[in-house]
Amino acid sequence: MTSTPEFIQVRTEGRVGIVTLYRPKQLNALNDQLIDELGAALKAFDADEAIGCMIVTGSEKAFAAGADIGAMASYSFADVYQGDYITRNWETIRQIRKPVIAAVSGFALGGGCELAMMCDFIIAADNAKFGQPEIKLAVIPGAGGTQRLPRAVGKSKAMDMVLTGRMMDAQEAERAGLVSRVVPLDKLQDEALGAALTICNYSLPSVLAAKESVNRAFEGGLSDGVMFERRLFHALFATADQKEGMAAFVEKRKPEFRHC
Ligand code: HXC
Repeated sequence: MTSTPEFIQVRTEGRVGIVTLYRPKQLNALNDQLIDELGAALKAFDADEAIGCMIVTGSEKAFAAGADIGAMASYSFADVYQGDYITRNWETIRQIRKPVIAAVSGFALGGGCELAMMCDFIIAADNAKFGQPEIKLAVIPGAGGTQRLPRAVGKSKAMDMVLTGRMMDAQEAERAGLVSRVVPLDKLQDEALGAALTICNYSLPSVLAAKESVNRAFEGGLSDGVMFERRLFHALFATADQKEGMAAFVEKRKPEFRHC
């Protein structure tokens, strides 16, 4: 990154890159600068050979309470459309090829919920609350919420969330399939780091292929997805790590992956 970010904190733990959203007074409300900084940090980790997986997290009280309402309040249609304000650069996160885990505690509302859903999976603390309350502001989700939420939880619950603007707690989110695990608040960061370190120990080409193939399930039809998966599966037999992984199993030893 070119300059020191203002609204995020960036650090590494082994091969894991961690980005913490940091606008504490505004409950991590997401403005264009924060999204730009987040995208730049994730892209830098994606390009860094020393990194195998990333975590995006917030504070105990808020992962992110949505897009910055104060910043949006006076925009006209011409402002947001011509300047691509608010929605600018969110898609950067989707371009990241290494896995990105969302570690969510507290509020994940509006754009905060959408940001969490853009990550590859969500680990939630037991105090997490998810919601798409944009309807209360006379708008609708603008960063994929009406598209990713139904895919995650089905049409009925997504309609309920988007039309009533109510919040869903961590237990409901887990039952609905929005989050992969719920853990006590004080265990959240360790749990996310443990998952990330597990992923980092696998062969990177297979990790990238696995992420790409699961994402296909969301964006295309079943036959195409199955064919795409098969091609990637076959392609992984060209890696040295596939030879190592299978030889290690046969020889009853731990594999040593070289990520190639
Ligand atoms: C700007 C926000 C904010 C937001 C909270 N704050 N959410 N500022 N944008 N989205 C600020 C408050 O104004 C307040 O500032 C401080 O953070 C603490 O918030 P409180 O409301 O005092 O806290 P609390 O009573 O605990 O309530 C928490 C809350 C509530 C339930 C999360 O803040 C809330 O409802 N926030 C708005 C949630 C929302 O509608 N999100 C969707 C936004 S639209 P001060 O200065 O008073 O201390 C959206 C569109 C996405 O996200 C489009 C993506 C492209």
